[in-house]
Amino acid sequence: MASTFFDPDSELSHPAALDAKGYAEAYRRSIGDGEAYWNAEVDRLDWIRRPTRFDESSFDEADFQVRWFADGLLNVSANCLDRHLDELGDTPAIIWEPDDPSAASRTLTYRELHREICRFANVLKRLGVKRGDRVTLYLPMIPEAAMAMLACARIGAIHSVVFGGFSPESIAQRIVDCDSSICITADQGLRGGKVVPLQANVAAAAKLAPSLTTRLIIRTADAPLVLEPGEHEYAVLVADVDDDCPPEPMNAEDPLFILYTSGSTGKPKGVVHSSGGYLLWASLTHQTAFDYRRGEVFWCAADVGWITGHSYIVYGPLANGATTLMFEGVPTWPTPARFWEVVDRHQVTTLFTAPTVLRALMREGDHHVTSTSRISLRLLGSVGEPINPEAWRWFHEVPGGGRCPIVDMWWQTETGGGMIMPLPGAWPQKPGSATLPFMGVEPVIVDGEGRRLEGATEGNLCIVRSWPGQMRTVWNDHERFFQTYFSTFRGLYFTGDGCRRDEDGYYWITGRVDDVINVSGHRLGTAEIESALVLHPAVAEAAVVGFPHDLKGQGIHAYVILNAGSAAESEQLRQWVRKEIGPIATPDRIQFAPGLPKTRSGKIMRRILRKVAEGDFANFGDTSTLAEPGVVDALVAQRVA
Ligand code: WT7
Repeated sequence: MASTFFDPDSELSHPAALDAKGYAEAYRRSIGDGEAYWNAEVDRLDWIRRPTRFDESSFDEADFQVRWFADGLLNVSANCLDRHLDELGDTPAIIWEPDDPSAASRTLTYRELHREICRFANVLKRLGVKRGDRVTLYLPMIPEAAMAMLACARIGAIHSVVFGGFSPESIAQRIVDCDSSICITADQGLRGGKVVPLQANVAAAAKLAPSLTTRLIIRTADAPLVLEPGEHEYAVLVADVDDDCPPEPMNAEDPLFILYTSGSTGKPKGVVHSSGGYLLWASLTHQTAFDYRRGEVFWCAADVGWITGHSYIVYGPLANGATTLMFEGVPTWPTPARFWEVVDRHQVTTLFTAPTVLRALMREGDHHVTSTSRISLRLLGSVGEPINPEAWRWFHEVPGGGRCPIVDMWWQTETGGGMIMPLPGAWPQKPGSATLPFMGVEPVIVDGEGRRLEGATEGNLCIVRSWPGQMRTVWNDHERFFQTYFSTFRGLYFTGDGCRRDEDGYYWITGRVDDVINVSGHRLGTAEIESALVLHPAVAEAAVVGFPHDLKGQGIHAYVILNAGSAAESEQLRQWVRKEIGPIATPDRIQFAPGLPKTRSGKIMRRILRKVAEGDFANFGDTSTLAEPGVVDALVAQRVA
């Protein structure tokens, strides 16, 4: 394994906020005397009532809870807006770069954003939205997406953002789960010149979700809106509301948002994040990991439909008074130079993106990059999946011109913000390693029986103690929260990831060890795709596994058993899944299998299916418990044919 050290000092044009000694000292305090550490850190937020209680969490079943700053009162939108107005009122808060490069970009200063959000919040109030209500957002990457989130936060409503690539069925499932009665959407979205019919998708979802009575539509296209009963045009309502909307005082533990994510079993889980702990974590990690300085332009090229967008497009940067760039488009349209042109146009200092994007751009050729200046770039970031050392080197050398450290940040929807990552300038980097834990984060690696492994080792990645940004519960299913994360290894939070620790104590994430696959940095549960497949009338049974994919990281391989006498084309089934879940879940391969390898007790041996999908036919391991060993030969024969 490559373990070249990259010396960060030579790569920074000015000294970073923390050096190795500063980090070691802060880390030691954060673990050794958490109360004193967090007592000082809470002042990065503006509290209506400063908390006097800190970590009151326990990962043990008997007194299980995740709780921080429980007597604190604050308002998240006031922290992201009002408190900056005196000093930063005329500073850009959001720079918006549209899909179409020839269309005008938009800049909103903190003062302008504050006004828009107050007005947006008043529109929500007028529609009857109250503190604690769940508001579903299904929006393109436009400033109104951030406004809608912060407007909810202002009045204490809980937002649930659904990624714009999900199908009506998936939207409806999420609306029903959190019993949401209002959805904010747009007439359409634009991505790479293609139109996404958002309003129509929500209309279709409404038929499946009886609780949804109100739809608020933001017009983005030239054509006037055509409204159905229950639909309201945002521009019409906002025309006569007040500019003033006092922020609702919220308890630190009140939910700020729900974000659905896939797990290894069943339907997506509603991950619940808190107001106080989450915002503190988003703000602290954004400031420290990206060594953020006032006046810089920070670009997280994710979608607000994912946690990365929540924490590093909206909440972290705005809490820190940063200028955050929102990009509506895609990296390869109209040309593979788009990212770097955006960097030059808006003088971006930090670009945070995903390995899958880098791999796609890498193969288009360096000339798309080198034709641009990129001189404003100071720092690069990578997130979503392990970054392969080739992509790391390319990112560092070509887009980064050899000048910019790479923050390879490991975290999860559940963690709220970064957990393991190099702090720029603080210590040497190794391409492909997320390096060392952030303040307050105590990782351990355990074997299959939960025994802690010391020194250089490999196993299951767990976290020993709570941190402020940790999710608080699964919406409406606290028992599932405990079962999913705390029951595999007693007293520990289990991440679902495999991990290696090297002789220097650096962490290397090796990928999911559960039935979750990571397709282009998007997380999908194999069980969800299987459920979608068996809904098709021709399908009797399905088993889905991931396989290594050059661009996407992992691809989706579906084994399908048809009902006797039924027929289906693979393309039909691919389109079926696409319609049921959304384009990101479209299987790359459908293998019509004669049977599945099962144990005598009927359990599918996924390990074997993964090997067959990978094309590794030599290492099936122990197959003695198979009910019908011949099935494996048949599957292999199909693959080599
Ligand atoms: C899973 C979480 C939170 C960011 C977006 C994805 C993988 C994420 C890294 C990284 C290696 C990574 C893990 C994790 N992952 N970042 N820097 N290096 N793996 O959030 O959808 O909740 O997925 O993404 O497997 O468990 P998510």
